[in-house]
Amino acid sequence: MVKNSGGREEIVFAYPVYFSKLPKIVYDFIHGNQSVFSGKKIFIIATMGLISGDGAGCSARLLAKCGASIIGGLHLKMPDCIGDEKALKRTKEQNHLLVKGAENKIKEAAESLKQGTPVREGLGFWYHMAGLFGQRLYFYNKTKKYSDKLHIDREKCIGCGICVSACPMENISLQSGKARQQGRCTMCYRCVNYCPKQAITLFGKKLYEQCSIEKYL
Ligand SMILES: Cc1cc2nc3c(=O)[nH]c(=O)nc-3n(C[C@H](O)[C@H](O)[C@H](O)COP(=O)(O)O)c2cc1C
Ligand code: SF4
Ligand code: SF4
Repeated sequence: MVKNSGGREEIVFAYPVYFSKLPKIVYDFIHGNQSVFSGKKIFIIATMGLISGDGAGCSARLLAKCGASIIGGLHLKMPDCIGDEKALKRTKEQNHLLVKGAENKIKEAAESLKQGTPVREGLGFWYHMAGLFGQRLYFYNKTKKYSDKLHIDREKCIGCGICVSACPMENISLQSGKARQQGRCTMCYRCVNYCPKQAITLFGKKLYEQCSIEKYL
């Protein structure tokens, strides 16, 4: 994205919402690439399992500080990715319908953007208040640092390395044929959801479902 966006004036910037905030990896990405965003027009898409208040607003405020202008925001309810918690679990059909609904919402948003009247979900004062008082105050510290809580069951691990390639943080390596974490987890759940031996957990102690978008298309 950084390499390819140089010459473009408009950017669509999309990410999932964690605890009504930006995932740490997204926060660091914006901070590390401030000059790329300067002068750009940005349409923000925030995905969420249920509700986020100002999911789009969280990055909008940071991006504006980098000198970007925010042209719109879209909130999409998507299948939950937290495989080791019971909450928010939906049937395959319900998740399929969620994805369809999100696709339709994207089409409508693209149409209104073309007509010069972009949607502005998650942007502005009242959304900010909803994000702050609805959730962020209670989970203030949850995404401040990378997590060291990822648990890998060494008995179950067969050393296939799928988690190593899946991790966007290079947080997992193979040592003596077993996966090991290094305390730099952004909590994206990719390794948890793709491990063929269900050897990885993060928030919970056991897996209820291995979630992946491919199952719900
Ligand atoms: C650590 C974490 C925190 C989350 N916090 C929220 C939240 O505050 N509100 C919400 O609606 N969804 C929340 N979710 C659900 C995700 O936003 C949702 O599953 C996400 O949009 C899926 O995108 P992904 O699979 O591309 O990561 C959270 C998910 C994770 C992993
Ligand atoms: S994906 Fe699972 S089995 Fe494969 S190396 Fe990682 S923890 Fe071990
Ligand atoms: S959940 Fe797994 S894949 Fe995602 S950042 Fe943490 S260790 Fe990496």
